[in-house]
Formats: sequence, C-alpha cells, structure tokens
Amino acid sequence: MAQIIDGKKVAEEIRVELKIKVSKLIQSGKQVPGLVTILVGDNPASQSYVNSKSKACSEIGMLSKIEKHTEDFSEEALLKLVNSYNENKDYHGILVQLPLPKHINEQKIIEAIDPAKDVDGFHPVSVGNLVIGKNTFYPCTPYGVVELLLRYNIPTEGKHVVVVGRSNIVGKPVANMLLQKKKGANAVVTVCHSAAEDLTQFTKSADILIAAIGKAHFIKADMIKEGAVIIDVGINRVEDQASKKGYRLVGDVDFAEVEKKASFITPVPGGVGPMTIAMLLKNTFEAYSRINSGL
Ligand SMILES: NC(=O)c1ccc[n+]([C@@H]2O[C@H](COP(=O)([O-])OP(=O)(O)OC[C@H]3O[C@@H](n4cnc5c(N)ncnc54)[C@H](OP(=O)(O)O)[C@@H]3O)[C@@H](O)[C@H]2O)c1
Repeated sequence: MAQIIDGKKVAEEIRVELKIKVSKLIQSGKQVPGLVTILVGDNPASQSYVNSKSKACSEIGMLSKIEKHTEDFSEEALLKLVNSYNENKDYHGILVQLPLPKHINEQKIIEAIDPAKDVDGFHPVSVGNLVIGKNTFYPCTPYGVVELLLRYNIPTEGKHVVVVGRSNIVGKPVANMLLQKKKGANAVVTVCHSAAEDLTQFTKSADILIAAIGKAHFIKADMIKEGAVIIDVGINRVEDQASKKGYRLVGDVDFAEVEKKASFITPVPGGVGPMTIAMLLKNTFEAYSRINSGL
C-alpha cells in the first residue's frame, strides 16, 4: 500500500512557518506583507476561492483585501485598478481571480500586473524566468507539487517524471520546474496530452506520475509502474447521492486501485489542493521580501 502524501498537513506546516515570520515583523514594528485579490463577477466558485485566499492571509497576520466588482466592470477599469495596486506600497502581491468575464481580455490583465507582484506566476516574465531557471514566482499549484515532493524527501534527480496535461497553469509549469538543473528537480521529464497515441507506454515508465487532466479516475493501476510516486492534481465532481451536496470531489487517478501499486500517492481531497493557497502565501511573503530588499 502506498504512503499517503498529506497535503493538508504540509500546507499547515507552511502556514505556521510563515505565521512565525510575519509575527517577527509585527513584533519589530515593521510593515507586513499584503495581498490584494481582485474578483470580477459573481461566479460562486471564484467567490469561494477568493474568500479562502483572503482568510488564509489574515490568519497568518498578512494584510489582505478583496476588491469585488460586478460582472459589467470594464476592461479599462480593471486595467486602471491593477495599475493602482502596482503602485500601492501596502500590497506586495496582486492576484486577479480567473476566469474573468468574456468581455475582458485575460492575457492583457495578466500582463498589466507588475512582475514583482505577480504572486500567481502567470505573467510572461515569470513564465520566461521559470523556463530559463531564473529566480521567479512559480504558479501556486505546480509549486505545491514540487514542495510536496521535497518535504516527503522523494528524489527527483535523474528520475523519469511523466506529466499528463500541458495547461499553462499546471502541466507546463510543473514540467519546467522539475526539468531545472537544481536540487529538488533535475528530472527527465515527459509531457503528455490528449494527442498521445499510446499514453500508457509513457505513464508506465514514470517513476513519478503527475496527473493534471481534469477527468475523474482516468489513471488506472494498469497504467502505472509498480512503486511509482503518484501526484494527482485533478479535482473533479462526481455524482454522489449519499453526500448532502449530491456530489463529491475525486482526482484524475483511480485512487482505490492505484494506491495498492504506488509507493506514494496524493489523495483528493487533501493532497495537492490545500498546497495551492499555502504556496500563494509563500509567494506573497517572497514578493514582500524582494520588494523590501530592492531585488
Ligand atoms: N488547486 C488545485 O489543486 C488545482 C489547480 C488547478 C487545476 N486543478 C485541477 O487539475 C486538473 C487539470 O487542470 P488544468 O487547468 O491543467 O486542465 P486543462 O487546462 O483542461 O488541461 C487538461 C490537460 O489534460 C490533457 N488531457 C485531456 N484528456 C487527455 C487524455 N485523454 N489523455 C492525455 N491527456 C489528456 C489535455 O490535453 P490537450 O492539451 O491536448 O487538450 C490538457 O493538456 C483539473 O481537474 C483541475 O480542476 C487543481
């Protein structure tokens, strides 16, 4: 049976570490890191994400603000708002919650964020720096994946990592992070996607398999190698009449059968999911430190 990688526990450890750092700033009368989260429209999932991010910030003593705007907020107004926070000295991180309403060009907004405050790591400057191995802000979910591997002492050097999924928010960044020639990375990375002719041929050769597909229970036991490390990024709703909500959340991996064959596995929920907000807090603290040290 695989050892469970407990993302909830690791995320809590990170929050405690950051809380101690923030307390020290408060004790010495210094400014604390600040995060502004901008939400446009009334998408219930986005509202819930934004509230969780803001609450997590406040809980560790960081300054947190939610900028809520109605669905008809214009692109021009949003650009102005982002620019005002680029200049604002109280906020070191700016996060624009995606997706944005259709009339707003998401890429234009992402590119308006000062890269020094890009705690989501989606700005092309951050992406470029990641690829060439320069100091940058890593997107929070991939950053969480790499941090889990590190904290569980799972070696990556020389290992074959297979990433299933090539999105800009998960697949591509996690592949690029693990490819870097440095500690906690230096893996041989293969990236698969929906056009793969024989996906199992790749997944079966993975020492570490990262599933970021968005399809419930897609990875089965016969698709993995005995003893592989399985990181499940997927979050999918499946109908469940026994649950009050009528659904439950499952990953991209068929946990029940894969855990019997893997050496380590992340559960869903409680694996990669909780790491995302923890890494956002870490990025916000990092943005504060860089801005204050003039980097
Ligand atoms: N905080 C978190 O834990 C967190 C954060 C972000 C996302 N997620 C979850 O992670 C999952 C992936 O998210 P995403 O945003 O990366 O999704 P996405 O943008 O939809 O990308 C899915 C990727 O999977 C690939 N794919 C789909 N079907 C496939 C198949 N049959 N064989 C091989 N590859 C296939 C797609 O290939 P093509 O490129 O060819 O279409 C695509 O590259 C979702 O369940 C999402 O909810 C979780």
